[in-house]
Amino acid sequence: MTDMNSNFKSMGLYRNVDRIMADLEAMGKGGDQPLAVADLTSFDQYHYEGTDAVDDAIEFLRPDGGSHILDLGSGLGGPARYLAEQSGAKVTALEIQADLNETAAALTERCRMSELVAHLNGDMLNGVAGTNRFDGIVSMLCVLHIADRATLFTSCAQALKPGGRIFIDDYVALAPLTEAERTSLADKVYCPYVPNLDTYVSDVTGAGFVDVKTEDKTADWKAFVTDRLAAFHAARLTLVDRYGEATVDGLDDFYSTVANLFTGGHLGGLRLTATLAE
Ligand SMILES: C[S@@+](CC[C@H](N)C(=O)[O-])C[C@H]1O[C@@H](n2cnc3c(N)ncnc32)[C@H](O)[C@@H]1O
Repeated sequence: MTDMNSNFKSMGLYRNVDRIMADLEAMGKGGDQPLAVADLTSFDQYHYEGTDAVDDAIEFLRPDGGSHILDLGSGLGGPARYLAEQSGAKVTALEIQADLNETAAALTERCRMSELVAHLNGDMLNGVAGTNRFDGIVSMLCVLHIADRATLFTSCAQALKPGGRIFIDDYVALAPLTEAERTSLADKVYCPYVPNLDTYVSDVTGAGFVDVKTEDKTADWKAFVTDRLAAFHAARLTLVDRYGEATVDGLDDFYSTVANLFTGGHLGGLRLTATLAE
């Protein structure tokens, strides 16, 4: 594991990622039994509002059987599989953490979707092979991990065909973050940098995107992360049995940190859509 990957593991969500296999076992889908995409969606969406958010991405990106979509920061591959199944589009799922990428590929194989969803282990800061290749990019809660926005959005622009669309769910600073909030974000969410809205939009337009639209998701996501923490606490005993105490404590720390950050009122949620200039 590289240093980069080790840093990601400071975040509880990214430890013991094969715990999803224990979730599947608990629903009677253990071993290498075939899976449906719907069997996984309660466990494989590492962003907020689950497949509803991916439905919104589909509505904006309008993928079809002839499209090729890049899922930037694809995690366990949940959004990629769901988008491919709903639309028939091919999806390249790019994920920097090797263990997440391997687990994602194994799940896609069990869903018999490997012809539609290709998993790639890599860092978007190094780009993806080929330019002008993708019709759209979807990126759910990945950009928050990346401080170098100029390189990132240039890399996104190079990956897209002219006129290609990008859909991003991410963090934004509504007001200056306190020192304690910045430390929490850096140490427990592996989030080194949170720009305000104007800076965010200017970084995106600076890379050649036009028609940038933003939506404030703060209230929805605050409710989501608060409910997620309460549900996690209610299920604690079952989950300790399933994953072990250390994993549950790591997840608890992560979910609590995020709920506190959204409750603090300085961290916000941003949905941004844009089009690459023709
Ligand atoms: C919060 S997770 C969301 C995963 C997935 N988008 C989902 O919604 O289920 C963010 C993911 O982005 C990945 N990531 C972060 N920086 C990346 C980079 N530079 N290139 C590729 N993936 C990256 C992380 O490893 C992590 O799996």
